[in-house]
Amino acid sequence: MARFDSPQAILTGGGSRREAPEILSALGAHRTLLVVDPFFSTADFVLEIRSALDRKGIPNDVFSDLQPDPTDQNVIAGTERFRGFGADSVLAIGGGSALDVAKMIAAASTNIGPLRQFQGYHRIPNAGPPLVAMPTTAGTGSEATKVAVITDTERSVKMMILDAKLMPSAAIVDYELTMSMSKPLTAHVGVDALTHGIEAYVSRKANPLTDPVALSCITKIHANLRTAWADPGHARAREAMSVAALQGGLAFTNSSVCLVHGMSRPLGLLFTLPHGLSNSVLLPAVTRFSWPGSKARYADVARAIGIASVKASNESACEALSDWLDELNADLHVPRLRECCGGDVEKFRATLPKMAADALESGSPQNNPIVPAANQIMELFEIAW
Ligand SMILES: [Fe+2]
Repeated sequence: MARFDSPQAILTGGGSRREAPEILSALGAHRTLLVVDPFFSTADFVLEIRSALDRKGIPNDVFSDLQPDPTDQNVIAGTERFRGFGADSVLAIGGGSALDVAKMIAAASTNIGPLRQFQGYHRIPNAGPPLVAMPTTAGTGSEATKVAVITDTERSVKMMILDAKLMPSAAIVDYELTMSMSKPLTAHVGVDALTHGIEAYVSRKANPLTDPVALSCITKIHANLRTAWADPGHARAREAMSVAALQGGLAFTNSSVCLVHGMSRPLGLLFTLPHGLSNSVLLPAVTRFSWPGSKARYADVARAIGIASVKASNESACEALSDWLDELNADLHVPRLRECCGGDVEKFRATLPKMAADALESGSPQNNPIVPAANQIMELFEIAW
């Protein structure tokens, strides 16, 4: 059996942000809390959307008190604002952090108790209010996923909360909002989106509904990420990357992520690396380790992006894919892991057992073509170092 969840409506294209008031109104919104990345809280386009909501008779307020690796405290503060304002709907604007916080504010507004009780799979009892998600990066795909990642500040754990009730009611993917992304951010979130496509395709939970979406994500990124990075004003490349990120989200949320994401979460938490960066530094090494467990699938990816011929053996296609991922990281100036973690190899090694245990506990490595033991995960961290 395969199941494919998605937002009820997905809008793409330049200027689609202007449809937000109409979409919210159609979803029955009367008072809306905007959950906005602090970087954009006073941006012109946000003010324009607020004015348009006012004209439509939808009073609105903004909550922006959130951080890059969002915490339970951010969600609690936002939920208080949601209730205090008497909101009945949420408009989320920002990168993955703002979108994840917004999803959990919506969930917490209709469910009682500490957030940790929702950690894991399908543990949210009640559906939340309508939520419209509008990404300002082309990476996480959070606008079309059932997942939120929130740090539990007491236990110092990145909680993965997965529930169909977290799927946004609508996604508005306006690439014009991504044009101001810096080069490093473009690279890191772009490789994160590529990781979503690849992991969704090679996952043990891949299915006939997610496969074409995942491959379409991967081929768009192959054709456009370098251009979007080298020429930030390139509208067509930016648009393709925004759609690819959306497709990556749709694919992995209906299949799963695998070992890269499993290793990336503890790494990001311990060394305060943003999600996109921690995935980017791991993707090539993890791909080299994993392809022998699913040669045909990884070879499909290599052939889909045209770096291996139909006649090439699966093994050589998989090698070509691994080489290409190394080249892509080098071209996009993605640093080595040692450059992200302060260069202290002894300190890094001391964290490996905990990071390996946390990775395995997350459940994601169990979807990988090769399910690693803890010592193999530690070796992979060393290779990425
Ligand atoms: Fe990701």
